[in-house]
Amino acid sequence: MRVLVVGGGGREHALCWTISGSPLVEKLWCAPGNAGIAQDAHCVDISPEDVDALVRFSLENKVELVVIGPEAPLVLGLSDRLREKGIRAFGPSADAAILEGSKGYMKDLCTRYNIPTASYGRFTEPAPAKAFIEDRGAPIVVKADGLAAGKGVIICETVDQAHQVVDEMLIGGAFGEAGAEIVVEEFMEGVEASFFALVDGENALPLASAQDHKRVGDGDTGPNTGGMGAYSPAPVVTDEIVDIVMEKIVLPTVAGMKADGKPYQGVLYAGLMLTDDGPKLVEYNVRFGDPECQVLMTRLMSDLVPALIAACDGELKDFDLRWFDEAALTVVMASNGYPRSYEKGTIIGGLDKAGKIAGALIFHAGTSTNETGETVATGGRVLNVTANGDSIAQAQERAYKAVERIDWPGGFCRRDIGWQAI
Ligand code: AMP
Ligand code: GLY
Repeated sequence: MRVLVVGGGGREHALCWTISGSPLVEKLWCAPGNAGIAQDAHCVDISPEDVDALVRFSLENKVELVVIGPEAPLVLGLSDRLREKGIRAFGPSADAAILEGSKGYMKDLCTRYNIPTASYGRFTEPAPAKAFIEDRGAPIVVKADGLAAGKGVIICETVDQAHQVVDEMLIGGAFGEAGAEIVVEEFMEGVEASFFALVDGENALPLASAQDHKRVGDGDTGPNTGGMGAYSPAPVVTDEIVDIVMEKIVLPTVAGMKADGKPYQGVLYAGLMLTDDGPKLVEYNVRFGDPECQVLMTRLMSDLVPALIAACDGELKDFDLRWFDEAALTVVMASNGYPRSYEKGTIIGGLDKAGKIAGALIFHAGTSTNETGETVATGGRVLNVTANGDSIAQAQERAYKAVERIDWPGGFCRRDIGWQAI
């Protein structure tokens, strides 16, 4: 089979690493890929958002399966365009990507299908939003309806702050079109967890559990990031929780999307709050988590490719995936300054030595190779130093041993990835 992976981050490196190991795969490309992905796939210099060029490339090269990593090409309709041409695309249609693209739509779906989530209101005018906030009191959460690069959610400690945020979004246009409508919702207390399932339009198959660390600093402090590390399994996601989440959240969502004429196909990533009243949905993403995907791929025993095909072809019912019992943990190394501004082009050494630590694997998230053959950093999140082990503690020890061997004065990492699980 001829396969194209779309994206160029650590998630896509992990996907390429897994897919390239499948005996079903005859040729693997990645657009645009990165310096690490180049070891597992042929990198082609096409942007994930250049839908026309991706469709053309797929046709010209007789690609049979396109695996779409990030949300942007999904929202732009890459899956739809490929399917029109008879090419299998793993990832939801633009219509179904609305689960991530509109928080208001997602919340209304929850209401219609009785899916547990925070109580909420949808608003386009400040006055009714403020009346709702006064009625509910603080803390309260104000969210831009649309995609806002992960910055559109503000947890407000006071009613005054919430009023101010409402004005910033609805009058000040703080998030442009994405904030022209807002969702105001109850603040949920609890422990956060991520949940992933493969979905084929009708059936859903839960994946192993994984948890990320969103804050930039040790002890989960400082600004939010795309994720500074992850581990799997996540002890808070017990088998009982998996059953509840599938029955009360994931399967009703899949049924609701089908009934709405937007059947969902791809990976569904649910952000959950484990509350005293049981798991509740915080948000959906229409793609794999990054860096959660990296630890999931490390633990996957089965061939991923038949599962992706089954999702595309509506054949996930009774499909089974096997996982290694071993734990996996990944430490994100980022350019100094991330998530704020950072320098690009700093040189990274020691990757070969680091990769020799038993059980360690280094996925590249933002690298390229310069004219003299050195690896250089090209992004905020740059490397995912991943290791497996008999326990999360052992995986952690190995991952940090590998980190020690990496010679990169231009980068940093958190020192406590996995702490909640150890
Ligand atoms: P999101 O961008 O929707 O993932 O939200 C970012 C973060 O805000 C989540 O990971 C939660 O930590 C937090 N959050 C969002 N909604 C709520 C809520 N209703 N109650 C408590 N925390 C929330
Ligand atoms: N690690 C969080 C995300 O992928 O959104």
